[in-house]
Amino acid sequence: MGRIAVIGAINADITVRVSTLPTPGETVTSLSPRTSMAVGGKGANQAVAAARMAAEGYPSPSFAARFGADAQGRELRDAIAAEGVDVSHCASVEGMTSGQGLVFLQESGEVGSVVVGGANSAWPDDVDENSQFYEGLVEGAAVVMLQREIPEHVNEHVAQAAKKAGAIVIQDVGGEDRPFSRSLLQNVDYLCPNESELARLSGGASTATDQDVLAAARALQERGANAVVVTLGERGSVLVPRPGSEQESAPIFQLPVAVPGGVVRDVTGAGDSFRAAFAVALAERRPLEECLKLASAAGAVAVSRLGAVPSLPTRAEAEALLDEKLSPTPPAPSCSEREISNAGRREKSEPSFPLLFGSRLNSMRSRRDLVDDSVSNDVLGWVARQGEVRGLDLVDFNYPQHLRGLATEDVLGALARAGLRAGAVCMRFPEEHFRQGAFSNPSEVVRTAAVQLTAEGCEWAKRLGTDEVVVWPQFDGYDYHLQANYTEAEARMVNAYRAASDACVGVKLSLEFKPTDEAARFSFVPSTGAALLLAERVGRDNFGLTLDFGHLLAAGENPAQSLAMVAGAGKLFGLQIGDGHSRLGAEDGLAFGSVHGAAALELVFWLRTTGYEGHVYFDTFPRNEDPVREAEHNIRRFKALWDRAVKLERNSEVRGALLEYDAMTTLEVLETNA
Ligand SMILES: *[C@@H]1O[C@H](CO)[C@@H](O)[C@H](O)[C@H]1NC(C)=O
Ligand SMILES: *[C@@H]1O[C@H](CO)[C@@H](O)[C@H](O)[C@H]1NC(C)=O
Repeated sequence: MGRIAVIGAINADITVRVSTLPTPGETVTSLSPRTSMAVGGKGANQAVAAARMAAEGYPSPSFAARFGADAQGRELRDAIAAEGVDVSHCASVEGMTSGQGLVFLQESGEVGSVVVGGANSAWPDDVDENSQFYEGLVEGAAVVMLQREIPEHVNEHVAQAAKKAGAIVIQDVGGEDRPFSRSLLQNVDYLCPNESELARLSGGASTATDQDVLAAARALQERGANAVVVTLGERGSVLVPRPGSEQESAPIFQLPVAVPGGVVRDVTGAGDSFRAAFAVALAERRPLEECLKLASAAGAVAVSRLGAVPSLPTRAEAEALLDEKLSPTPPAPSCSEREISNAGRREKSEPSFPLLFGSRLNSMRSRRDLVDDSVSNDVLGWVARQGEVRGLDLVDFNYPQHLRGLATEDVLGALARAGLRAGAVCMRFPEEHFRQGAFSNPSEVVRTAAVQLTAEGCEWAKRLGTDEVVVWPQFDGYDYHLQANYTEAEARMVNAYRAASDACVGVKLSLEFKPTDEAARFSFVPSTGAALLLAERVGRDNFGLTLDFGHLLAAGENPAQSLAMVAGAGKLFGLQIGDGHSRLGAEDGLAFGSVHGAAALELVFWLRTTGYEGHVYFDTFPRNEDPVREAEHNIRRFKALWDRAVKLERNSEVRGALLEYDAMTTLEVLETNA
């Protein structure tokens, strides 16, 4: 029940370290006195990957392979069994050596290798039709995994037996250049090439764009293939269902899952872990989207590590990379209900949302007529009122205005009673001292005071259990031509922000630029580009940017583009969002997405694709509306845009349009609910 059966090859990979490869007639001495042996072969890799990927309560995968009747064979069998793989279908072949991979690792890092098929080629080819040999190999399997490192007739027979038994068949493509027979293709449910294998199998077709990949997959389907799952490296992966099948006919795209640590170290084993995770998720009867997602996460872990078997991830390691939890594991299917692949779609349970929400505390001053007098009209009362907002997680405080004079315990107590936590401390420099600017002020005394005040804000943040401090430099600008020396202002800001960053160790300090304000018609930091340049010159890891949707609109920017730029530079520390009619000089603070719907959707789309991990703060100013209802609306609206963004990410037409700047296709998709 729910078992994975892998039928394939196993090798003893023996690595010999040499200074260079021998030329004819030459003898070279190995650099180390001993060789090292590791388990290899695609079949073995996939069996171990499936064992590590298996969820609790599911049977261990079985592996059918042929060993030599030698010490190496016993060693290989023990190594696989120690991973929790059922080896009862393995057999050793008299008079044969085990398969071997002889790997010559040169000092330059280059590798030359020789594969000795050994017992992997010694599968019986005279199986009596009535012996039920192949039926035995797939008995009780929900999913059968095949590769191409054993004789093809074995795969042909196994696939046929698997189909008869109602199991799903996954066929890896590597290891063999010959085309597949139509009969084998027809018994395979998921044919799994990587990009170069797809190109080769489809007769040298291009795979440059998503449309090319789809066309190449369709060409395989014309030759008998069912669904095709293509791994595209940094472009992610795609599942192309067979046209006219019962499955959804739209291809399912999966964006790549971010590689832990951000560095691809070794792609060995990535394809095997991808396919094994896909198989395991299929056996759990998950929706195909989730199967691809888990597979991508497994591949991402594998490329972050060296080696084949050592790089294969566990289930927990793969799931840790996913931004949304997988739906709860459906019960293991009983033997009698093995109609798996399509019937198994289930309702998603409500997953916890991956980002946390905060909302403007001052908005809770509005509409006092809606609350009774027991809710005080002060900071702690506003916190209590925010506690009423369904779906809210965090409170952002202004410093010094909200916090000075309060005791830490009182603030923490109010937060706890409201069921909320502190999100960020936002600097608001008091006008009486800072009317000519804080960090750019011509007076060194005032600049030093600005740094000092920011350091106090950072202390408050730590006491409240957060590490985010946002600086809005309201007065750092000018009103008239020939009023200010811009070169000097920039140098002052660089030095003062450095000092503030250094005074705020352990805190993420971010600048929230605003291009124009009544307090300074022109800001010294009037655009996202200028803010990024400043951040670069400040050159501190704990100094970054908070982007404000309303400010970006006021700067005449497209918020999603600005976000992509800042996220790409690794400097997106925070996000404040609201909306407005973008008339000159007016920041309306209207509900998110209420005016600029498409811009809001695109912003959320890019938040997802750039992997934003900070919190989302609604910087809105409801004056005539109930602020609790308004905040709840913002949260719902954001989540709805998030769901829409997920759909768009998976939509092959949108992905194709983005590649080719194809406006009409995007507009047409947005017309529908696709
Ligand atoms: C695809 O797999 C083959 C092995 O069949 C490998 O040699 C090749 O490098 C892989 N291609 C890519 C693009 O990863
Ligand atoms: C602006 O300030 C810089 C640095 O102090 C100085 O070198 C430059 O001459 C000043 N520019 C003007 C136009 O005064």
